[in-house]
Amino acid sequence: MSKTNSATFSLINDATGEKFAMPVLDGSVGPSVIDVRRLYTQTGHFTYDPGYTSTGSCESALTYIDGDAGVLLHRGYRIEDLAEQSSFLEVAYLLLYGDLPNGGERDKFVHDITYHTMLHEQLINFYRGFRRDAHPMAIMCGVVGALSSFYHDSTDINDPHARMVASYRLIAKMPTIAAMAYKYSIGQPFNYPQNDLSFSENFLYMLFAVPAEQYEVNPVLAKAMDRLLILHADHEQNASTSTVRLAGSSGANPFACMAAGIASLWGPAHGGANEAVLNMLNEVGHKDNIGSYVKKAKDKDDPFRLMGFGHRVYKNYDPRAKVMMQSCHEVLEDLGVDDPLLELAMEFEKIAREDEYFIERNLYPNVDFYSGIILKAMGFPSDMFTVLFAVARTVGWIAQWKEMIEDPTQKIGRPRQLYTGPTERPYVPINNRK
Ligand code: CMC
Repeated sequence: MSKTNSATFSLINDATGEKFAMPVLDGSVGPSVIDVRRLYTQTGHFTYDPGYTSTGSCESALTYIDGDAGVLLHRGYRIEDLAEQSSFLEVAYLLLYGDLPNGGERDKFVHDITYHTMLHEQLINFYRGFRRDAHPMAIMCGVVGALSSFYHDSTDINDPHARMVASYRLIAKMPTIAAMAYKYSIGQPFNYPQNDLSFSENFLYMLFAVPAEQYEVNPVLAKAMDRLLILHADHEQNASTSTVRLAGSSGANPFACMAAGIASLWGPAHGGANEAVLNMLNEVGHKDNIGSYVKKAKDKDDPFRLMGFGHRVYKNYDPRAKVMMQSCHEVLEDLGVDDPLLELAMEFEKIAREDEYFIERNLYPNVDFYSGIILKAMGFPSDMFTVLFAVARTVGWIAQWKEMIEDPTQKIGRPRQLYTGPTERPYVPINNRK
């Protein structure tokens, strides 16, 4: 549904008494927005909103979040339904094209993605330039950025066919790049993709198979991986997606934009939180210590935050976290793993959710709180967690990038500022400086 214009919003300059009317725009669902695009030309003022807590940066038809109700929809479908009934590639199709594919469309899409999973052989040389102990996210930033030097035929952002080829290449090659980053870090040979496996099965194969042994993909783990990828596929205008859009708004090619997104995702306040959760749980060690960590998290003089708790948009339980917790139980049960960290995490959640500080601020577990426990049980070291998030989010990044490029109102992103530095002053020659 397109946007409509329902009302105006008035702004009064108290100093001059002048009144300015600004249009109010309504989307298909969710809060209306005040259209401030003509504010500066009309009033000579900018808005000031560090962290963009009250700013809508674009029009989008991909993902809707109702943070108060704890609802997440992709193209109108609930995340819980997609996680239960769909597959990652179906969700990728949905995000790219706007609707779920029919049987024929799905088969063609799966085929096309599958036949783009191999990397240019020369890219493998890039890995050898990294230290063995490099963080895999550092390798991801470098190798994904380098893709634009290999696939010149899909960097013309004004060509719709080239845009689609770049999108398919990114979705298809990201698992191969991620698996190679992992294999490089543990000194094992790289595995080439296997086209007879599904997207998630192939990803597990490339990560965990070794040439000396037969590798049987565990269907429970393949299902859990697929679900994890669905849960992380897109999440509206978060930091990394906004980074991709901002980088892309200058006309940069999509491979370079994805590298920018990966860099933004790496931080512990965003995609790095799942790694930080596991590190935190390991540090806490025993449930008797939870109280002192909760106390630290509440102390305003201590920078420590409870990792995996809180969200800019959700002021209710993150719907992805609910599915993740259920998946966590399924995986641990199938593998016969009795991880004391799961019990510790559940106890943490219980204590924090009964605490006035967390209740008042609506701080609930987010998607990252339980994902690390599943990934650890599946055999991933914690520094790979954010890499998996990047593999999944590539779908959201590329779909949002494509939507932006195809938006006729798109302009280069260029925020302004509240300047508080020195006003103009004469240059002081070096001999006259104190
Ligand atoms: N532990 C303790 N206090 C917290 C936490 C936390 N995890 N999160 C927020 N608060 C407090 C914060 O100190 C503030 O208190 P006060 O009002 O007294 O100043 C209040 O809650 C509001 O927090 P905020 O920093 O204004 O909220 P924000 O929207 O800027 O930050 C956040 C959102 C996700 C960065 C933050 O909640 C956080 O740092 N959480 C831990 C990191 C984390 O789990 N990140 C993953 C996010 S979900 C995955 C993703 O989308 O990337």
